[in-house]
Amino acid sequence: MMTMEAMIQTLPDQYRWADRLSIPDLPPARSAIVCGMGGSGIGGQVAATIAEGPVFSHKGYGLPAWASSLPDAVVIATSYSGNTEETLSAVEAAREAGLHIVAVAGGGQLSELALAQNWPLVEVPGGLQPRAAFGYLTGAVLRLVQGLELLDDTGLDEAATLTDELIGADLDGPGRHLADDLAEGLAGKITVIAGSGIASVAAYRWKTQINENAKTPAFVATLPEADHNEIEGWSTLGSALRRTVGVVSLRDEAEPERIGRRFEPTTRLLSEGATIVGEVWAQGSSPLARIASLAVIGDLASLRLARDAGVDPVAVDAIQELKRTLGEP
Ligand code: F6R
Repeated sequence: MMTMEAMIQTLPDQYRWADRLSIPDLPPARSAIVCGMGGSGIGGQVAATIAEGPVFSHKGYGLPAWASSLPDAVVIATSYSGNTEETLSAVEAAREAGLHIVAVAGGGQLSELALAQNWPLVEVPGGLQPRAAFGYLTGAVLRLVQGLELLDDTGLDEAATLTDELIGADLDGPGRHLADDLAEGLAGKITVIAGSGIASVAAYRWKTQINENAKTPAFVATLPEADHNEIEGWSTLGSALRRTVGVVSLRDEAEPERIGRRFEPTTRLLSEGATIVGEVWAQGSSPLARIASLAVIGDLASLRLARDAGVDPVAVDAIQELKRTLGEP
């Protein structure tokens, strides 16, 4: 099994793979619902955030009640293993509702179903942890959404170049150094990642990578919503507990001025007595590149946190045990 460091180094090539992908013939559609969980679900969140047309992310069993009333909707089912119960249930619901289905899978039941039913299928290269296949999975979803004319420019090419630069040839690029500094401040802490717009999708990726790679709790505070609830929610914790919280802000020069001016007071109120660990600014011009530039710093920080905590970033024993308990292959 590859190390997680080696898997992360393949990210730029994953974006390039997706950029060159030949897209299967797609059904006529004017909207898309992208269904998937965890590492296979984040592509839907990215697509829903950057698409120019109606694209929705769904994470859970079945489909939302409104799905069949969407005009000409296509369900894009995404699962790296191809065996995730919730995603297969969404596919079943789509069949029952007579919706078009397109699959993105690395094998398993989803690939088999797509082949048997003649649904358009993008098969992504296997051998990685699903979350490490972010570039393949997100890239494939974006290319499909582009093929459906719901997105003009995917930004995959720019995301590849920028991620390459940030990671560096031997994992020694500028992104690695920034990530190491942040990880030093976050070590032994619960991380709260603040972000808005495209940066809140990246913040969610940070959260999941810190959870799964570093086996540590992490939470997202999305602005401006957090200003209406979460800033109240930390104040009664004792100071010893609050010192175990580290806050990182993900910023984007394209964020509206009225969002930008919220960060300083929000993080100050969120973290009174806690540590403000740092800010990361998005780079690049396309929305995907800006998300990717923020996300890769979180990937690298989570690996550093794992190393310093002495845990194996690849293993996801709890996830596998739960899937086994529920009877998933
Ligand atoms: C494991 C990971 C998980 C899985 C999730 C869904 O690396 O990232 O979050 O992505 O359990 O499984 P798949 O991706 O196989 O549908």
